[in-house]
Formats: sequence, C-alpha cells, structure tokens
Amino acid sequence: MTGIEELLTSRIRDVADYPEPGVMFKDITPLLADPAAFGALTGALAEIAVRNGATKIVGLEARGFILGAPVAVHAGIGFIPVRKAGKLPGATLSQAYDLEYGSAEIEVHAEDLGAADRVLVVDDVLATGGTAEASLQLIRRAGAEVAGVAVLMELGFLGGRGRLEPALAGAPLEALLTV
Ligand code: PRP
Ligand code: MG
Repeated sequence: MTGIEELLTSRIRDVADYPEPGVMFKDITPLLADPAAFGALTGALAEIAVRNGATKIVGLEARGFILGAPVAVHAGIGFIPVRKAGKLPGATLSQAYDLEYGSAEIEVHAEDLGAADRVLVVDDVLATGGTAEASLQLIRRAGAEVAGVAVLMELGFLGGRGRLEPALAGAPLEALLTV
C-alpha cells in the first residue's frame, strides 16, 4: 500500500450490519474530520481531473457533493450537482436506474452541461455502479463528453466496474482504494 492509501484506509471506519444486517458500511466521516486525510483525498482526485483534461466536476448527491466540490475548487474548474429527483428548480434531464429493491431517479440542470464540457464524475463509493452509470447517461444526453469516473473506494466484489464499462466507452474509472 502507498502512503496515501494507508492514510485514507486508516480514516475509514467499518460499521457492521449497517444499514441492514450483513452489510459492512464504509463510514468516511473520520476521514472528513481529519484535514490531512481530507486534503490528501481531494488533492488526489483533483490530480485525476487535471490529468484527464476535465473541464467540469459532476458530484453525485449526497456524499459525492462533499468530495466533488473541494475537488472542483482545487482543480480550478466548475462543479455541477447531480441531485436526487425533485430538488432542482430549473429545466432538468432525469435518469431512472434500478436499485436492489425498486428504483431511483437523478437529475441535472440541462443548461449546466453541453458540447464544450468534458466531465469527471466524483463520488465516494462505487458499489453496484448503478448511480454512476445513470450519471454518465445524463452527461452524454446533455451532449457533454465523459472524462471518467473517480471514486475514493471501489467495492470490487459487487462488480460495478463491469457494469460501468459500456457507459464509460473507454474513459477511465479510477478508484483510490479497492476493497
Ligand atoms: C451511495 C454511495 C454512492 C452509491 C453507490 O449513495 O454514496 O453514491 O450509493 O452505490 P451504487 O454503485 O450501487 O449505485 P446513497 O445514495 O446510498 O447515499 P448518499 O446520499 O449518502 O450518497
Ligand atoms: Mg451517494
């Protein structure tokens, strides 16, 4: 493990049986409370944004906002929120996606993304990949280019990387940690 991987791993708390029995929840709040770890995380994600030529960061509500906003400031580019349905006041594009039980819907302001944009999606965790996949569909429907997806943590055993592959269409998925 590299130094930054050790630092980030040491600040993520495993919570057993949350939110339901059998699930090991990855709690990032100790990491957020540590300025050295949070700064290292946002610096590493901003480096991914710059290296991939991103002109916008899309953050996925809610935990993707906490990470994506400082990454955008650090990289010197704009931040675009992708919100859960019904929260944005302007004209939106919506994308539904399947959850284990039921479905969900996310939205972006249609005017926030266009053909001139190259977008990096930032989130805390890639699990099944459903949320990230829906965000890539929104970005492409808005006419923008996908620079990639960057996450703090990939839960490899859930197969999200494979699910995302078609929507990434060759763009990178970069995870700072893989569990
Ligand atoms: C969590 C996590 C990712 C998503 C990953 O968000 O923050 O956004 O699930 O799961 P997936 O890869 O299976 O789609 P969630 O909406 O549960 O909560 P949040 O609002 O706290 O971010
Ligand atoms: Mg989330």
